Amino acid sequence: MKRIIIAIDGYSGCGKSTTAKAVARALGYTYLDSGAMYRAVTLFFIENYINPDIPKDVSKGLQELDISFHQDASSGVQQVYLNGVNVEAEIRGMQVSSRVSEISKLEEVRRAMVEKQRKLGKKKGIVMDGRDIGTVVFPKAELKVFMRADTGIRAARRQKELLEKGEMLSLDKVKENLENRDAIDTTRAISPLVKADDAIELDTSYLDFEEQVSRIIELAKERM
Ligand code: C5P
Repeated sequence: MKRIIIAIDGYSGCGKSTTAKAVARALGYTYLDSGAMYRAVTLFFIENYINPDIPKDVSKGLQELDISFHQDASSGVQQVYLNGVNVEAEIRGMQVSSRVSEISKLEEVRRAMVEKQRKLGKKKGIVMDGRDIGTVVFPKAELKVFMRADTGIRAARRQKELLEKGEMLSLDKVKENLENRDAIDTTRAISPLVKADDAIELDTSYLDFEEQVSRIIELAKERM
């Protein structure tokens, strides 16, 4: 069987990463959360007071940061490390979520992340989720999925996730963040979020999670 690349793109909070993770586990593939990389860059910029409007500072910041992924020994869950420190919790909070799309718009940031993502996907056998995976990172991916879901449903799911991590926010605040990110992500000049012509669309508003995962696995097997 051929090892393929599965690109999963879509709007914020529609369950891309949970789905991608389950698909990767079922196929014995590597999972890569490209959003976590942009979140880690954002955390680094916040912590080091890097002004995204000053190109020289952006370049310097990018040279100083190192992003890596490691499996947690006990749970087997993938964790994101920034310069050797586990930042999984920090990057998921609202402080990063409210700045990430602004940082992700920067050409230099995108260039550096895309290069790293291509390297990580070189051997294939990977499921990568994000906004530009099927359009820019791997335009030749064997399977491209584009996910969307009703905004109210996405906000409720995201609010629950944040609460589980100890951050309590109103539904309106969560919804506002999702809508703001979608607006910036879909209208930015470089690599905007757009469905690739050959992507298969999946509306997950009312789809059972298991159904969603098995549908993607079925599509993947047809392409192996
Ligand atoms: O996937 P997640 O919601 O964690 O992504 C956080 C943000 O990172 C997105 O809203 C978007 O601004 C940016 N992103 C991106 N390109 C990707 C993945 C994420 O611009 N491939």
